[in-house]
Amino acid sequence: MTIRSAALALLVLATPVAAQDLATELSGPEVFSDIEDDASRAAALFDEMAKVITHPRCLNCHPVDNIPRQGDDMALHQPHVVRGEDDHGAVGMECTTCHSTENVAYTGAEGSIPGHDPWHLAPLSTGWIGLSNAEICAQLKDPERNGDRTLAEILEHNAEDGLVGWAWHPGEGRTPAPGSQEIFGDLTEAWIEAGASCPS
Ligand code: HEC
Ligand code: HEC
Repeated sequence: MTIRSAALALLVLATPVAAQDLATELSGPEVFSDIEDDASRAAALFDEMAKVITHPRCLNCHPVDNIPRQGDDMALHQPHVVRGEDDHGAVGMECTTCHSTENVAYTGAEGSIPGHDPWHLAPLSTGWIGLSNAEICAQLKDPERNGDRTLAEILEHNAEDGLVGWAWHPGEGRTPAPGSQEIFGDLTEAWIEAGASCPS
């Protein structure tokens, strides 16, 4: 065993503690096609989608309070910032004061400031931190809480939206969401086709 592979083996042994809940793989809808009952298949597809939705790259912008989170441990945003009236931050301390239209690597240090156009908090009604998959599923389908979207519009958002896509290109120093936006879109489409039932 070379020193490098020994170090890698150690790393593999050491990681499960921190990365336990962080999904790194995402199955496509074909993996679930054997489940004949539509409601059960939809529920299983949603649980797979939830590996993306409950990833820190998504949750950090979808809190159930007014403070964005940071990092894989979803720590409170440093420096302290708040949602503000329109989810864009407080007057004089808008998200775009620091966040640019793209990720910007730090000069002379590891990491980056994440960025995208637009960059702001998801509405309070779409807060997900601490919710079960069943609760998130119910929220996604509820026009009163999902920005008045139809299921077709939810599919379009998951498959095409740039801010959703950012989660797979989050900049230096951040773990991307599992799989790809394309697989996430395919899962969403299959979930809707199966009747969009929620896990229990
Ligand atoms: C004063 C500067 C500043 C302001 C204002 C600011 N941010 Fe940040 N934000 C940062 C920095 C710097 C980081 C990166 C920290 C790190 O990981 O090194 C960051 C990271 C984040 C992350 C973490 C992404 C991830 O998954 O790890 C999110 C989400 C975020 N900001 C959202 C917001 C939102 C939403 C607003 C407005 C309500 C906002 N920020 C306002 C400086 C700022
Ligand atoms: C930088 C912040 C940010 C990140 C990161 C982010 N979102 Fe959002 N999300 C938003 C905002 C803002 C909206 C509202 C957009 C609108 O209504 O036009 C939104 C809305 C949504 C919606 C539609 C409303 C609903 O029912 O929840 C979905 C679905 C969604 N996001 C999924 C995701 C997923 C999945 C990820 C990760 C792969 C993600 N978002 C990452 C900010 C973010």
